[in-house]
Amino acid sequence: MTELKIDISRLKTFIDDQAWPGMKEELNNCFNQLAGHSGKGNDFLGWLDLPVQLEAAFLSRIQADAEKIRKMAEIFVVIGIGGSYLGSKAVIEALGNPFEDLKGGSGYPYVVFAGENLSESYHAHLLELLDKREYAVAVISKSGTTTEPAIAFRLIRQHIEKKYGKAGARERIFAITDSSRGALKKLADAEGYASYVIPDDVGGRYSVLTPVGLLPIAVAGFDINALVNGAVTMRETAMKSSDFDHNPCVQYAAARNLLLRSGKFVEILVAFEPNLLYVIEWWKQLYGESEGKEQKGIFPAGVTFTSDLHSMGQYIQEGMRTLFETVISVGEPATHLVVPNDPENLDGLNFLSGKRLSEVNRQAELGTMLAHVDGGVPNIRLTIPAINEYYLGQLIYFFEFACALSGYALGVNPFDQPGVEAYKKNMFALLGKPGFEKETAELLKRM
Ligand code: PA5
Repeated sequence: MTELKIDISRLKTFIDDQAWPGMKEELNNCFNQLAGHSGKGNDFLGWLDLPVQLEAAFLSRIQADAEKIRKMAEIFVVIGIGGSYLGSKAVIEALGNPFEDLKGGSGYPYVVFAGENLSESYHAHLLELLDKREYAVAVISKSGTTTEPAIAFRLIRQHIEKKYGKAGARERIFAITDSSRGALKKLADAEGYASYVIPDDVGGRYSVLTPVGLLPIAVAGFDINALVNGAVTMRETAMKSSDFDHNPCVQYAAARNLLLRSGKFVEILVAFEPNLLYVIEWWKQLYGESEGKEQKGIFPAGVTFTSDLHSMGQYIQEGMRTLFETVISVGEPATHLVVPNDPENLDGLNFLSGKRLSEVNRQAELGTMLAHVDGGVPNIRLTIPAINEYYLGQLIYFFEFACALSGYALGVNPFDQPGVEAYKKNMFALLGKPGFEKETAELLKRM
């Protein structure tokens, strides 16, 4: 039994009762394709059983490397882009205290990211910081050929070798890549870096529960065993049967496909906890890359409330009626903070005196849901009891499984990303990469 719950009761006024049986039947077929490995992209289903296949000895190796990194580094630089960084960033930000470093640090290395953009100033500022601090690096690329992390690694490799010498640098570099292909694998073997393999049948955006996500999360001091256990629990529920009433992944996939067919082609993932911002970013990549192809797919957007109620709230309430919302609702926090009483009551808020801030936030969440539903925005609600490793593990596996089902219901291959190549071709041609001369000439004519 999973503690993550889904509530689709607020869809009643948006989806005709008669639409559900057909969609349940479709989802049953999608479930059989996924569980039976007979659907599109079935050579990329390694993530399905990953949580139950991760052996204790393997997790201990990751813990041991994390411990080694903790001893030698104040900063752990994670180089990667897309699925090679979003999962670890999502979990680390969700579990962290945003003010920890201003307080003097948690005692664990501060995890920073590189190679997830091509910004010169970002990387220059990072190198400036690394001049002054002890650090270690994970360079993560499944293909081993992605330009952004490869450039960042060139910069950081030069820096780390200068700072610690070649032998010292070798101790501080961890490569996480494919088992055989790609430049990074060759380099790691040639230089003797400690390395981890990303299984061939696990795509980047489904790789949080491989060393791609687990090593940085462990370095940051979080419990990877609990994260994996959460995923194991959700897997049990998800894989058990396609029974609509007992499988939250089937409910979510069915609901979003029916909403899409009724003209709601933008899904906004909403959180009322700012720590979940990167969970939203991770989800955007998972759903955007998995479903957005062949001129199909729901556009994944995200907001954190109540902050964004003062920016995007206006559009959501009254703009184009093409939206639906999925809210990640979280139980009581472990902290305890109440609104203070003020004898002068100039702001008129004494009716809130003594109430926990989480209670005010909860009523904001409920009030927003009702207002948005009244405004024509269908609402799906996912509830987890708390933000911890175990429930994040459930949430991650829930979204992965539902994404695969939903992609099958759309009729696409949820495990490829052919569209990502188009910008790379143009970038290489514009930068004069050998072999791209024809494309370069064609692009220059258009400029
Ligand atoms: O989900 C995916 O496969 C992509 O988003 C990749 O993670 C991203 O493009 C990075 O690829 P790589 O790990 O090969 O550098």
